Amino acid sequence: MKQVLLIGAGNMGFAMLRIWTRMAGHRFSVVEVNEGLRQRAEEVGAQAYAAAADLPSGYEADILVVATKPQAVADAIAASRGCLRAGGLLISVAAGVTIGAMRRNAGEGPVIVRGMPNTPAAVGEGMIVCCASANAHTPDLERTHALLSAIGRVAFVEHEGMMDAVTAVSGSGPAYVFYLLEAFNVAGVAAGLPPDLAMTLAKQTLFGAAKMALDPQVDPSVLRAQVTSPNGTTAAALSVLMDADHGLAPLMQRAVEAACQRSRELGE
Ligand SMILES: NC(=O)c1ccc[n+]([C@@H]2O[C@H](COP(=O)([O-])OP(=O)(O)OC[C@H]3O[C@@H](n4cnc5c(N)ncnc54)[C@H](OP(=O)(O)O)[C@@H]3O)[C@@H](O)[C@H]2O)c1
Repeated sequence: MKQVLLIGAGNMGFAMLRIWTRMAGHRFSVVEVNEGLRQRAEEVGAQAYAAAADLPSGYEADILVVATKPQAVADAIAASRGCLRAGGLLISVAAGVTIGAMRRNAGEGPVIVRGMPNTPAAVGEGMIVCCASANAHTPDLERTHALLSAIGRVAFVEHEGMMDAVTAVSGSGPAYVFYLLEAFNVAGVAAGLPPDLAMTLAKQTLFGAAKMALDPQVDPSVLRAQVTSPNGTTAAALSVLMDADHGLAPLMQRAVEAACQRSRELGE
């Protein structure tokens, strides 16, 4: 039975915990300062404590997961590092907190994984991108994958510098998609549809198209070409969306660059 200790069971911590507690072979303990959130964690089957010092004597975690706000990560690691067994793994999902910064509080021993999940993790469809410390070996990456793949798709990057771009694409990305739905809905209403129907059409279209595009063998540009008859309705819309100067591609590039820049600033 693998012991997993989660520090911080707020939005992201609880989203992961709720799915993890259904996994076999793991036992979950939680350290969370907020009483209501501790109760919520216990309701899904974890043992919850107000502080690491309250854990049963002799408790040793195989994996320590830190899901506090970035500014609380250093204190959370300093308070709980003694609970991680020798050879244990420390995973943080805090945005912008570097492996080097965590190392200062974690000491030289543990393998550290910096992960960036996104909110669809709450429904088991997250995208979680991880970067591991230099002392990580294949079994550490396998342990990370085994835990995090329960909440979505897991990818690893070798260079930590890529985490700003990861944050800007998949970390913040769900908000771009939610805004796309809002914009799609507004456009549907402007074209004459009742708001409820416009939103249903927008959501189901996005869901269905995403499902078709998810196949790794499929190139979205091929799917697009297949539904675009020359001089038809789709072609008329795409001539607006694919405008080289004012279309979606340059807009998306500016949006992702803005998020990248902000991620770099927050990491400084
Ligand atoms: N939400 C997302 O979509 C998302 C996506 C990617 C990454 N993340 C990352 O996930 C992390 C958590 O975000 P969140 O939205 O879940 O934050 P949150 O809802 O504020 O959850 C963090 C919880 O940890 C508690 N806490 C703080 N310090 C603690 C400590 N030393 N020991 C135990 N509990 C402690 C907090 O209590 P107090 O509020 O009293 O401090 C809070 O209840 C962030 O670092 C964020 O960058 C979030």
